[in-house]
Amino acid sequence: MRSVIDILDLSPDELMELIEVAQDIIANPAKYAEACHGKKLATLFFEPSTRTRMSFEAAMYELGGNVISVTGAGTSSAAKGESIADTAKTVSCYVDIIAMRHPKEGSAYVLAKNASVPVINGGDGGHSHPTQTLADLLTIYREKGRFEGLTIGLCGDLKFGRTVHSLIQAMSRYNGNKFVLISPEELKVPSYVKKDVLQQQNIPYVQTTDLEGALPELDILYMTRVQRERFFNEEDYLRLKDSYILNPDKLKNAKPDLAILHPLPRVNEISVAVDQDPRACYFKQVLNGKYMRMALILKLLKEAENEH
Ligand code: CP
Repeated sequence: MRSVIDILDLSPDELMELIEVAQDIIANPAKYAEACHGKKLATLFFEPSTRTRMSFEAAMYELGGNVISVTGAGTSSAAKGESIADTAKTVSCYVDIIAMRHPKEGSAYVLAKNASVPVINGGDGGHSHPTQTLADLLTIYREKGRFEGLTIGLCGDLKFGRTVHSLIQAMSRYNGNKFVLISPEELKVPSYVKKDVLQQQNIPYVQTTDLEGALPELDILYMTRVQRERFFNEEDYLRLKDSYILNPDKLKNAKPDLAILHPLPRVNEISVAVDQDPRACYFKQVLNGKYMRMALILKLLKEAENEH
């Protein structure tokens, strides 16, 4: 059974296919209004979420399907100690496809191993968030018209930010991209991303603490929130949380066609004054996430049907 746990579970050809379907959904929503009639999605969210859970649910409703949901760690039998494996076997009895968010790295993999329906990872701890990357990729494609030859700045919590790890993996598969990794010393990209992705493929990257110095050369700036929920100590979080705040003044030396992305939620990383800047793409990114999740649900359900 095909599941999507990591962005690399999808080939570049499949990503392009999803982008094409998403763009067709945007252009012709009525064509897809009954595409999942009679199908059910379970959203199992054991960590807080606004965008991911709601966009999965909106996606399924807009495809004519139905949704059943677990929200919050305390509201399902997981709170009584039920394993992820047993949850997978149980929920597979009720629905055709599952989207899960869970605080533990690797949890989505365990769910998929034990489910008899496709599983989509909606974020597993600090590891991976592939459908956020789908939202990011559609946004980059619609803003830039290409995935190659881009200088991509990633700024903020590059250590715990799972969306950062997935986006670096995804964009490393295209030629001519360069990464500028902007973070405090304590929140640098983990060595498995640096060594196994960037260095192994000889992809150019620089690490810096200087956002303003890096800005003029960027085609894309991906801002991120400092991930309070993954810190062991509140003092460190408070010291680091406002390391970078993007405001209109800092953007004066940026390219006129810079695309500013953020997976959201934001706390202080982008001042609200930047929302008026035509380079701000983060709310378009939210909408793009729904269309890419629609395309992914369609693809996985079709593949599951073909398996039977
Ligand atoms: N970007 C993202 O995953 O947002 P939520 O945590 O609100 O789902």
